[in-house]
Amino acid sequence: MPSPAIESQPDLLHMLVQDHLLSRSVLDAMEQRCVQERAGRPLQVAFWLQVLDYFDGYFDRVHHCVEDELLLPRLALEGFAANGSDVRQMMQEHERMTSFRQHLRHALGQRARGGLHAIVQAFVALHRQHLAHEEQHVFALVRTMLSKAVQYELAQDLELRAAANASERAAAELLVASLRQQVDRAPPTQPRS
Ligand SMILES: [Fe+2]
Ligand SMILES: [Fe+2]
Repeated sequence: MPSPAIESQPDLLHMLVQDHLLSRSVLDAMEQRCVQERAGRPLQVAFWLQVLDYFDGYFDRVHHCVEDELLLPRLALEGFAANGSDVRQMMQEHERMTSFRQHLRHALGQRARGGLHAIVQAFVALHRQHLAHEEQHVFALVRTMLSKAVQYELAQDLELRAAANASERAAAELLVASLRQQVDRAPPTQPRS
């Protein structure tokens, strides 16, 4: 006898998870470009400015806004934002990411290739750790500790915000595709004489 169909619930955090995938794609491209430039390719200022556009624009003004205005306050309201909590750590890291981008922009303005690559390395490490921590601890809190009623309310808020952000999301996807193409199509490095 076939087992009864299990009704699968859509993940209320689907959009945020998709944003993380998009961001990881940018982090991968950043690391790839660093390798290419360390191997002798010229410093590609336009590429790094586009990277900053992504993080200053979509990632900070859209993705972080959704987390800072909807997700984290809801968890705080439910009592999950005590000092030292994962929720509080995520809030603090959002702040730290802003100053990292300022350092990156400064190094780029100076055309300081070595300094830029060192900042990129730290920037990428912080972002990867943040995305993973958020998924493993904060998103898990939402899925396992919030009541169904609260999850439903949050899902409604997230859906409304995703609809309002649809054009920014589409633009961000194009920007990330452009970054990927730039590193994937970079010609092989000429050996230095
Ligand atoms: Fe975050
Ligand atoms: Fe996030």
